[in-house]
Amino acid sequence: MKEKYIKVIWPNNKETFVSDGDNWFSSAEKAGLEIPTGCLTGSCGACEIDVNGKTVRACISDIKNNKKSLLKVTLTTDPFWEE
Ligand code: FES
Repeated sequence: MKEKYIKVIWPNNKETFVSDGDNWFSSAEKAGLEIPTGCLTGSCGACEIDVNGKTVRACISDIKNNKKSLLKVTLTTDPFWEE
């Protein structure tokens, strides 16, 4: 297991550090955000987030490191993320 920390920049501009394989939902919670959920089996798309411009379904994906160890999470339009 690599013990390298990955920096995540969230839609609310908070920054947290996570590890490869961490869960998206609990990581978002630490940043004070809640990723919406629906089916939790990967079919409804409610939990979709954009990670470095690539859409991932949070319920069926773990956090994956990239070369820069920097992940920017964005959502185009989703009322659940407004505060
Ligand atoms: S909660 Fe339905 S795809 Fe993730």
